[in-house]
Amino acid sequence: MCGIVGYTGTRQAYPVILKGLKRLEYRGYDSSGVALLKEGKLKVYKKKGKVAELEEEMIGKEIEATIGIGHTRWATHGEPSDRNAHPHSSASGKLAMIHNGIIENYAQIKQELLNKGYTFTSDTDTEVLLNFIEDIKKNNDCSLEEALRIALKRVSGAYCILLIEQDNPDTIIAARKGSPLVIGIGKGEHFLASDASPIIEYTKEVVYVNDYELAIVRPDELILKNIGNEKITPYITKLDMELAAIEKGGYDHFMIKEIFEQPSTIYDCLRGRLDAKESIIKMSGIDQNIDQIMNANRIMIVACGTSWHAGLVAEYIIEELCRIPVEVEYASEFRYRNPIVNKGDVIIAISQSGETADTLVALEKAKENGAFIFGVVNAVGSSIARISNAGAYTHAGPEIGVASTKAFTGQLAVLMMMALAIAKQKGTVSKERYDHLLLELEQIPEKAEAILKNAKELKKIAEKYKNASDFLFLGRGYNFPVALEGALKLKEISYIHAEGYPAAEMKHGPIALVDDQLPVVFIATNDPYHEKIVSNMQEIKARKGKIISIITEGDTVCPGLSDDYFSIPLVDELIAPILTVIPLQLLSYYVGTAKGIDVDKPRNLAKSVTVE
Ligand code: F6R
Repeated sequence: MCGIVGYTGTRQAYPVILKGLKRLEYRGYDSSGVALLKEGKLKVYKKKGKVAELEEEMIGKEIEATIGIGHTRWATHGEPSDRNAHPHSSASGKLAMIHNGIIENYAQIKQELLNKGYTFTSDTDTEVLLNFIEDIKKNNDCSLEEALRIALKRVSGAYCILLIEQDNPDTIIAARKGSPLVIGIGKGEHFLASDASPIIEYTKEVVYVNDYELAIVRPDELILKNIGNEKITPYITKLDMELAAIEKGGYDHFMIKEIFEQPSTIYDCLRGRLDAKESIIKMSGIDQNIDQIMNANRIMIVACGTSWHAGLVAEYIIEELCRIPVEVEYASEFRYRNPIVNKGDVIIAISQSGETADTLVALEKAKENGAFIFGVVNAVGSSIARISNAGAYTHAGPEIGVASTKAFTGQLAVLMMMALAIAKQKGTVSKERYDHLLLELEQIPEKAEAILKNAKELKKIAEKYKNASDFLFLGRGYNFPVALEGALKLKEISYIHAEGYPAAEMKHGPIALVDDQLPVVFIATNDPYHEKIVSNMQEIKARKGKIISIITEGDTVCPGLSDDYFSIPLVDELIAPILTVIPLQLLSYYVGTAKGIDVDKPRNLAKSVTVE
């Protein structure tokens, strides 16, 4: 949520920042801006709208500078507008700041500043914090770094901030709590950003800044300190990421590129961990903590959005295979509702970004109570990965389209392998079933490829239904969470109202919505409930609803009941969600693009939700 970039070195800062903002635009895109500092002159430019609009605005402007900061915003305090866009300038005009996060006690601080005669040009909490810092600096006659440290001790909430100062020509001061910050180390230059994507083009050596740390960054120097002013030795990590992974590579959108990447991302996730021939799953995070996990009284899964849907699938699978009770919680509810968490409880945290604020805080709370945290995370080195006691990365590579696709199938693959590894150790799965499921998992990349070959069929279906005002998604068993995910995907990127339900639950309310205008998507693959779901289809057909079904190749019943259908290869019901979700991702993508929506940046959304 909000992307931030900073540069100090010998290159021109503006092109580096602009490119960085474009890469971070998935984090928020309602306005953007840059502040550039040259020869004691601080220039701030900002514009409502996407980064391309800022770029346009900058034509003919003074952009020469070798130090600068830039921001792409997802509004929290104050509507998207030029004046609420970042960077903000302080009252004296000598400081400029960008911020990702929320200052929760900003109203109180603002009142104090108003009482002192300060005025504000925006509605943001950021401008309040900036003037608070400037006020402290003035009253204490101290350095900016010292003023920032004092200010942060008064502040509650989350932040990653970058500050530059007119009188300090080559220094960026940064601080982080709860919102991510990566610093790239070049030769005589440093890059700062919310994630590594603006940095990898220039250097692979990075430092992940931790909560309550401040960084003083100059071209030749990086000083890291804690909030108590003690120096910390920066821990340099090598990025394992290629530039091609964050570019569109000939596709129209990141979303479709990421959907089509799934055969290889699932393969990468399984590679080195699963060997069906040898009948083994090797996952170091599980192997090293097997007693803890296997003997848990219960497992709680904490996540948000699509990751929460992966958690629901995992609940079904873990209970079935491992016979351990599982509860799945929305992180935002878990963190506030005083849940019972005891020492020895195992919490599985699922997150693509590894930075979702609600999930992160929920985990901190559970950890305080003695729970063991197992992270299923995509972004390497992210906050959730680091707070976890153990974990398994999904290895889906950077996911840039706002709607999560390949991260979801990666999460499912990891969770399925985890369940199988635990069940084998616990002796709750027969050797025959274990071996069969390993084989089935190993074949997933190939079957995903086969589905994608027929993507055009879904394009045709999307064209037919793109003007519907509502959709219903129905599934049973392991495919019920996939129905929820299908509905979420469609809502996000086509703005069509959609609901997901367990197919049998439909009779208890949603059936009232059915008429000859309502498309109902059934996930009706071969499984033990197939006959039941066929009955549910009959019920919809009898009320003239339009049926679109996702079926197993060779099904002779469902096509006759469906207005449109899409076939997928035969797959075990437990593994099916990794495949059944792919046609739903494609359907949403094609409906969204047919409606002319920018599916990579749908309205109001941001990829990484680092505020509550
Ligand atoms: C939906 C989507 C969101 C995320 C949710 C959690 O397409 O992307 O619902 O799944 O914001 O994000 P992570 O997984 O990064 O914690």
